[in-house]
Amino acid sequence: MTSRTLFHVSDPHLGHSGGDQRAHAAETAWAHLHASVARERPDLVIITGDLVVDDPDDPTDRALAHARITALDAPVLVVPGNHDVGDHAHRAGLPADWHGTLVSEARVLTWEAQWGPSFWLRELDGWVLLGINAQILGSGLPAEQRQWEWLEREALPAVAGRQLLVFSHESLDARPETDGESDSWMAIPSAASARLEALLAPHRPVAVCAGHTHRHLDWRVSDIRGITAPSLTGAIPERSDMTAALGDQRPGWLRYTLENGALRVDQEVPTLMPTGAA
Ligand SMILES: [Fe+2]
Ligand SMILES: [Fe+2]
Repeated sequence: MTSRTLFHVSDPHLGHSGGDQRAHAAETAWAHLHASVARERPDLVIITGDLVVDDPDDPTDRALAHARITALDAPVLVVPGNHDVGDHAHRAGLPADWHGTLVSEARVLTWEAQWGPSFWLRELDGWVLLGINAQILGSGLPAEQRQWEWLEREALPAVAGRQLLVFSHESLDARPETDGESDSWMAIPSAASARLEALLAPHRPVAVCAGHTHRHLDWRVSDIRGITAPSLTGAIPERSDMTAALGDQRPGWLRYTLENGALRVDQEVPTLMPTGAA
C-alpha cells in the first residue's frame, strides 16, 4: 500500500504587528520549515491555524502569511485559528486581562476570501482528511450553521468507511488537563464539542489533530485520539493566572506517515530554532 507523508504545522504566528522580536522568531522558524518542505516534498502540509501573529484584522500580516504559506513547495491546506478569525465568547482559564477578539461572520468571510472555505474535505488514497473551522463552533453565526449542514449532509456521509483524520485549531473538549472543566481556553466549547464528537464517533476517526496550545500532546479520551502539534515558532509564555496546557513546548512540527491504514506521528524539532515566544 502507498505510504503518504503529511506535515502537520500549527501556530506559525507570522507578521509584524506583534513586534520585531516575534516577527523575527516566526521568520526564522518559517525558513526552517520552508527548507524542510523543499527537501522532503511531503504529499501535503496542513496548518491548523493561528497563521498570523495576533490581529485578525491586520491586512499586512494576513498578506505576509499568505505569501509565505503559498510559497511552500507542497500542496497546503489550512484552517483558521482564533488569531485569524477571532475567538469564542467564553474561555475559562485565561488571564483576566486577556481580551480576545471575538469571531464574527465578517472575519470568517474575509479569511475565506483569501484562503477558500474554512472547512474542507480532502481524499488521499484510502484516507479522508476533514478540516474544521473550530472558531465558529458555538458562535451562533451563519457560518456555524453552514458548517454543521456541510458536516451532516456532505462531508461525513462521504467518509464511507474510510480512515478519517480531523484537523482543527482546537481539540475536542475531552483533554486530560481540563477534566471536569467546561469551555476551557484549550478546546472547542463543550456543547459544540459534544455535538461534533457525536457526529464523528460513528466514523471512528483515527485522530483529531489540533494546535492552539503550542504544545505537542498525544492522548486518548472517550475512544478518540487527540493530537496537538507544537507551535512552529514558540511556546506561549507561562503565567501563574493561566491554566497550563500539557505537552512538549519545543517549537517545530509533526510528521505524519499514513501507511497500511495506520498513522505514525514523529515530532520534528529542528536545531537552531529561535527561543522567542509566539
Ligand atoms: Fe497560537
Ligand atoms: Fe490559538
